[in-house]
Amino acid sequence: MGKGKIAVVGCGLIGKSWAMLFASAGYDVVIYDKDDSASLHALTIIKEELHKLESSELLRGDLSAEEQIKLISRAENLETCVKDALHVQECVIENEEMKKIVFQKLDNLATDKMTLCSSTSCITPSTFSENLKHRSQVLVAHPANPPYYVPIVEIVPSAWTSPDVVSKTVQLMKEIGQKPVIVKKEIYGFAINRMQYAIINECWRLVQDGVMTVEDVDAVMSDGLGMRYAFLGPFETCHLNADGMRDYNRRYATGIYNVSETLGPVPKMEGKVAEDIHEQLCEKVPLHSLDVRRKWRDERLACLAKMKKSMGE
Ligand SMILES: NC(=O)c1ccc[n+]([C@@H]2O[C@H](COP(=O)([O-])OP(=O)(O)OC[C@H]3O[C@@H](n4cnc5c(N)ncnc54)[C@H](O)[C@@H]3O)[C@@H](O)[C@H]2O)c1
Repeated sequence: MGKGKIAVVGCGLIGKSWAMLFASAGYDVVIYDKDDSASLHALTIIKEELHKLESSELLRGDLSAEEQIKLISRAENLETCVKDALHVQECVIENEEMKKIVFQKLDNLATDKMTLCSSTSCITPSTFSENLKHRSQVLVAHPANPPYYVPIVEIVPSAWTSPDVVSKTVQLMKEIGQKPVIVKKEIYGFAINRMQYAIINECWRLVQDGVMTVEDVDAVMSDGLGMRYAFLGPFETCHLNADGMRDYNRRYATGIYNVSETLGPVPKMEGKVAEDIHEQLCEKVPLHSLDVRRKWRDERLACLAKMKKSMGE
């Protein structure tokens, strides 16, 4: 018997990760997908994953893989999945209409105590909660991929989300070992994707304008900026790169402004440049080896997470 029940709705990439994270902290997790084969497949994959994590000593939480597996089950309909749940984590496809349909159904099934939480990457919670009876219980908890290794979670309330629901969700995220940050007011794309898209746009322009190859652009991040950013955010980086932020601004603000004015329009990410970037990436990682490379990525992220933990980060 776990600590209480958590419902996970939608068993794709993110649904599976949430199920593993909640089970790692001892919650009873019930997963549901409109496609039965997806939830059955999810159970098989989760079982394999948890055993592999245990044998490579990367399993999260204090329970064994077998104990965590026993906490996860599947429901054949939404009603059974959410019945008596403390928290519902919605993980269906990223589509505004679909989120509205699913949250309408959740609203009909919810008790007054249930948190109704979406994993959406960009859609603001008011978009799909405005007309719901339980709208004060709706918010977003947006993870970064892969959530098992990358702990950040953006908590995004709408104007009518109850502060109590926000603090319960923050607490739950901390309890499962994630790092919640609050998006204080709704903004399309939240913070993770706004920051990520600003980076992608500039990387795109550097390749499009013939300034750098795809491989070198990626190296600027993985062997350069990214190494610092794994420990310090952009603001603290500035603070340390001069004698404090005020000094940084005094020294560099004009230069930053001047360079930023030349950044150029938002690329459409299509046409010949898109093909060139794809080809360059496939030379390094052919499509048939994407899974092998994802495993490579996850192992490194897991080691980094372990190292940060051991350093008391
Ligand atoms: N993939 C990522 O990197 C990532 C990262 C953070 C957040 N997210 C967000 O998480 C959510 C899920 O993303 P994903 O990548 O796991 O998607 P996915 O396409 O892998 O999985 C979606 C699952 O939802 C199921 N589904 C669709 N409609 C349903 C319904 N009405 N009821 C129940 N199940 C339904 C589908 O059958 C599918 O199994 C999206 O909102 C996405 O934006 C994704």
